Amino acid sequence: MASPKLFAPLKLAELELANRIVISPMCQYSADVHGNMTDWHTIHLGNLALSGAGLLIVEASSVAPEGRITPGDVGLYSDDNEKAMARMLESVRGHSPMPVGIQLGHAGRKASCQAPWEGGTQLSLEQGGWQTVAPSEVAYQDDQRPPKAMSLDDIEALKDGFVTSAKRADRLGFDLIELHAAHGYLLHEFLSPLSNQRDDQYGGSLENRMRIVLEIFDAVREVFPQQKPVGIRISGSDWVEGGWDLAQSVELAKALDARGCSFIDCSGGGLDPRQALDVGPSYQVPFARRIKQEVAMPVIAVGLITEPEQAEGIVFSGEADAVALARGMLFDPRWPWHAAAKLGASVHAPKQYLRSQPHTLKGLFDV
Ligand SMILES: Cc1cc2nc3c(=O)[nH]c(=O)nc-3n(C[C@H](O)[C@H](O)[C@H](O)COP(=O)(O)O)c2cc1C
Repeated sequence: MASPKLFAPLKLAELELANRIVISPMCQYSADVHGNMTDWHTIHLGNLALSGAGLLIVEASSVAPEGRITPGDVGLYSDDNEKAMARMLESVRGHSPMPVGIQLGHAGRKASCQAPWEGGTQLSLEQGGWQTVAPSEVAYQDDQRPPKAMSLDDIEALKDGFVTSAKRADRLGFDLIELHAAHGYLLHEFLSPLSNQRDDQYGGSLENRMRIVLEIFDAVREVFPQQKPVGIRISGSDWVEGGWDLAQSVELAKALDARGCSFIDCSGGGLDPRQALDVGPSYQVPFARRIKQEVAMPVIAVGLITEPEQAEGIVFSGEADAVALARGMLFDPRWPWHAAAKLGASVHAPKQYLRSQPHTLKGLFDV
């Protein structure tokens, strides 16, 4: 059998991934109320770090307290946040060679909510919620408290927040940064004409709406060591008439590519509750396929990629350079082992587990 492309190495900037399976960032809503990681994160990320994937991306970590989706979101805006993350990383790194990246973001008008398992609705100020910020005073849903429109000073402070968090991420030894510009959170809110109704240099034309993302990319790129990747996650479309769409995503991808972006992770939706889409296997892969035709940087596809043959097909056909899995990794945290077994590849496993593979799968583990 030809060796599967899914298990061929991939370089992002100077970081070499052992294979093309990326563990997608997943909020756990399990930090303390100051945004500090807890033992849950060590257990959860430690478990995923034993999976043999090529890269683990830590959940959306907020660059400012008001940028947390819920009071249980992880932050990387304080010294205490940094210390708590250092503890998690020391444990995980002690037992896994997997590269670990972090997603940096700000939830904008979608902040100040309950955890999904508590209903996920917006928290009032009396319930411990806070005033949200966004490009314009347009709420995500009509029944919500509208966000405050950001001033130019607020925008400068946001950029500083990303830069300071990126420096913290470097000090912590993270191998990679992914900027979160997807799913209707703050950077996506600037991109989409549905949520951005500004009439200054950050609103109006596509060039103006992209400005903040490009400025933040440049500023983060400048402070994070050149050999380490800085990439981005975008939503390929709002799936709403008059919103952000694939044609605009292509322009953004080209602009980022020209600035030396290390990768683009192509997700979708999340900006507007009216979004109309058909969810099914590989439903967002067309975004990756289209953007890949236009850029030199590696492209990651995500969204209901659950089967080894499906993942192999996406990278083999060149629709994307890598695949990211979220729910599939929670459901089966050894997904990369099982994919390697199915496709006839080998994968890293911790020495403590080397006797686990069935007799028929001798050679599954790299030793
Ligand atoms: C529990 C959970 C938490 C998530 N948190 C994040 C996040 O922090 N950042 C992000 O960009 N996407 C987040 N997502 C979206 C996933 O990264 C992924 O894009 C989406 O679930 C589609 O992939 P899947 O079909 O493999 O689950 C989350 C998804 C889940 C299920």
